[in-house]
Amino acid sequence: MRTCAILSSVLACVALFVACGGGSDPEPEPAEQNSRSIADLPEHKTSPLAQLMREMTAFGDTTRARLLRGEDLPPYPVHFKDMLTLESTPGMVDHTTYDPFAIAYLYQLDSLYKVPVAERQQGFDELIQYCAACHGEVCPGPLVRINKLRMPG
Ligand code: HEC
Repeated sequence: MRTCAILSSVLACVALFVACGGGSDPEPEPAEQNSRSIADLPEHKTSPLAQLMREMTAFGDTTRARLLRGEDLPPYPVHFKDMLTLESTPGMVDHTTYDPFAIAYLYQLDSLYKVPVAERQQGFDELIQYCAACHGEVCPGPLVRINKLRMPG
């Protein structure tokens, strides 16, 4: 009985880890691979929150490239605040743990748009550390991808 409970919670953890996705491969998969992929099963559908996370990753890529070229920030992504309310993959978000990290991330996103131009690279790097901080707690899969967004040096 006890062993069974432990085993099933281990399996649940593994399932969570897989559901969280690596996020390390932004390239779309070839169509024929998609058609027989486990992504077709209901429990592997991309949740609205996971979809937003992909946009946040793309925003990170764009912003990083722009700042490194000395260009302006992209338009402020107003809808990122939806990360507080969007539906996640079942079991991925425990709001007691998740919300403080999300609020810290959104606060840093605001400050990135407020700091003087000369401090933007540092402000952006700090923003990415907030991605990593939350992921370290709730969803380690995408950490490799996230760390690629850090500023050089
Ligand atoms: C407050 C916590 C938190 C913050 C901050 C956060 N994430 Fe996430 N992220 C999550 C959770 C939870 C999921 C799983 C969502 C789901 O499956 O519904 C996720 C999923 C992802 C995924 C996988 C998406 C997929 O395709 O399944 C990527 C990539 C990702 N996040 C990147 C980022 C990046 C880049 C940032 C910063 C710009 C960031 N995250 C900030 C909690 C967070």
